[in-house]
Amino acid sequence: MSNIKNIAVFTSGGDAPGMNAAIRAVVRTGLYYNLNVFGIGRGYDGMVHGDIFPMDAKSVANIIQRGGTILKTARSEEFRTVEGRQQAYENLKNHRIDGLVAIGGDGTFTGASKFIEEHNIPIIGLPGTIDNDLVGTDFTIGYDTAINTVIEAVDKIRDTAESHDRVFVVEVMGRDSGLIALRAGISVGAECVLIPEIKVEYEAMMDRLDRTRKNKASRVIIVAEGDDAGGAFAVAERIKERFPHYDMRVSILGHIQRGGSPSCMDRVLASRLGVVAVEALLEGRRGEMAGLIHGQAVFTPFSKAIKHIGTVNENLLRLVDILSL
Ligand code: F6P
Repeated sequence: MSNIKNIAVFTSGGDAPGMNAAIRAVVRTGLYYNLNVFGIGRGYDGMVHGDIFPMDAKSVANIIQRGGTILKTARSEEFRTVEGRQQAYENLKNHRIDGLVAIGGDGTFTGASKFIEEHNIPIIGLPGTIDNDLVGTDFTIGYDTAINTVIEAVDKIRDTAESHDRVFVVEVMGRDSGLIALRAGISVGAECVLIPEIKVEYEAMMDRLDRTRKNKASRVIIVAEGDDAGGAFAVAERIKERFPHYDMRVSILGHIQRGGSPSCMDRVLASRLGVVAVEALLEGRRGEMAGLIHGQAVFTPFSKAIKHIGTVNENLLRLVDILSL
């Protein structure tokens, strides 16, 4: 067992639904184990600037259902410097903080690795990002909610598309990952899904659009923002060149995918991982991300967690092909 007495929790990078549920779980688990728990505002930026405050059970009451992050989040330029990290460490020392829980994505864990290297402070990471682009967990906190937001939006788009016999190109988030696009695409019955992991095959896409025309009044193409096609407008233009008679519209869903009340899956995932993270610190673990694989808690070194390999489940891709007839 470790001698950890004072821990702090922070969120960093893009916010994700379920981050609040994770903060709540970390704070309450810390209190359960008689630790002093602190919050750090605005991620690494708040650490550098001493935005550090005690948290009690009440401070996390009534937040499990809220989107965003009550701790706020930021991308910190100062923490990228040796001096900034030294200042952050001094601020933690002033509060006698001897363990950290970092909730975020690859940028967060890259920063955490550097910090451990230089200051030898125990840090456990929780995967908080809508992109699902981390190795060491089946799902990241926020991914399920984001997909459900996409589904809700595209179902509505489908209503109007169907009424007008239109083709819609819908762009979704995911940075350089197509995992939001793929799962959402299957769920909305998209005719085509374009993702960065697979080189875009325009001819196959045109064929499918032409073919599916017989069976469907509307067609929906889901494009991941990181796809090599260059985004929804570029795809729409290519289609228009080939099929000038198509009535087409583009919709870019944007940041609505990051907001909203977390789904059951994200709340439970965040709660489980929040407990696991604090217990891991107490067991003396550090420099690892806690995740769930097949329902079991697993730990993955930060250096490996951030190495998203850019592959997708071929079976899911096949579903789009088979079911879009
Ligand atoms: O990483 C989460 C994410 O929402 C990505 O899907 C997207 O590319 C990016 O963040 C957008 O970042 P920002 O909020 O800084 O525009």
